[in-house]
Amino acid sequence: MSSYNIALNFEDGVTRFIECKAGEKVLDAAFRARINLPMDCSDGVCGTCKCRAESGSYDLGDDYIDDALSEDEKHDGLVLTCQMVPHSDCVIAVPTSSTACKTAHGRFSATVSKVEPHHDAAIVLELDTDAGAPEFLPGQYVNIDVPGSGQHRSYSFSSAPGEAKVSFLIKKIPGGVMSTWLEAAQPGQKLDLHGPLGSFYLRDVRRPLLFLAGGTGLAPFLSMLEVLARAGSQQKVHLIYGVTRDLDLVQVGAIDAFVARLPNFSYATVVAEEASRHPRKGWVTQHIPADALNDGDVDVYLCGPPPMVDAVRKHFDDNGVKPNSFHYEKFTPNAAPGVSSKAA
Ligand SMILES: Cc1cc2nc3c(=O)[nH]c(=O)nc-3n(C[C@H](O)[C@H](O)[C@H](O)COP(=O)(O)OP(=O)(O)OC[C@H]3O[C@@H](n4cnc5c(N)ncnc54)[C@H](O)[C@@H]3O)c2cc1C
Ligand code: FES
Repeated sequence: MSSYNIALNFEDGVTRFIECKAGEKVLDAAFRARINLPMDCSDGVCGTCKCRAESGSYDLGDDYIDDALSEDEKHDGLVLTCQMVPHSDCVIAVPTSSTACKTAHGRFSATVSKVEPHHDAAIVLELDTDAGAPEFLPGQYVNIDVPGSGQHRSYSFSSAPGEAKVSFLIKKIPGGVMSTWLEAAQPGQKLDLHGPLGSFYLRDVRRPLLFLAGGTGLAPFLSMLEVLARAGSQQKVHLIYGVTRDLDLVQVGAIDAFVARLPNFSYATVVAEEASRHPRKGWVTQHIPADALNDGDVDVYLCGPPPMVDAVRKHFDDNGVKPNSFHYEKFTPNAAPGVSSKAA
């Protein structure tokens, strides 16, 4: 391969993708793309360019000093971008904002190709992007401008990267700005999107995965599952999809299709409403099988409305559940997203 695709994920959630030629250092590739990553000496001495490599393989050479990057930091996945030469596509977390690096999120336009309502619960929105497949990491979101309103709303891709057709799973909010626009939306209408954004994305898969989705918080998991299926993943993956009412259970067929494509994938649906006759009632936390936690050797991804995300986090804290890593995203209504990740 003559070049690699490097995702630079900034502290403010903005992600920029750059091309790094074989043998090229990441700092040089970023400068070619007019992104001023933090740096000082560019010689492996100052440590100013220290970032975290979240996936991919690379060489750090031996031309830097321990003060700039210690052995422990190296084993923790920290890298010096002025030394790092990728050997594969990589994701790098940059501990500063995109604006400080004189860059910003991308913009692209798209044409509505399908608006598919699911009762009064949700809408599947499909768009054909005008300039080819947008780059994003599975789990990330974009801001979509609501035409004529001067406002935007955030939506996680439910489709996988690499497709010019992108899809979203959107909860219907009575009277909501985007929900109201979608009620009358027609194929052929144009939309402007900004992104990709967010640090809720699938990391390197090295151990079993537990996915916890609340309502339309299912969207990013559909994207992640598609990426896992395409990669032929053999890893154990368990998804628990919790909703309020029976009618809110949408795209179960799409989830079920992954059972045939991912040999170690299983899932369970859960309905909270008392009146429901669903076989599993209550909250997702009441339906986590002990083996899905794998004695803590598990990476947990959690996405949904803020009360559901907070309840799961409290349940883990109260019960001493300490997964290897825990990533979550809250679908905060029209506000700054609450996103977090922590690795034990
Ligand atoms: C990072 C991020 C990713 C997101 N991804 C998705 C996604 O993939 N799918 C998705 O459906 N949503 C997602 N959201 C939420 C989405 O951005 C909007 O907030 C939501 O769709 C409501 O937009 P609206 O214009 O229809 O309603 P608004 O005009 O924003 O809201 C109208 C009224 O309803 C209230 N309201 C808004 N949302 C809710 C709710 N869930 N429950 C009860 N009341 C509410 C508002 O506070 C307001 O009073 C995401 C949010 C964030 C921050
Ligand atoms: S810029 Fe000084 S160590 Fe990389």
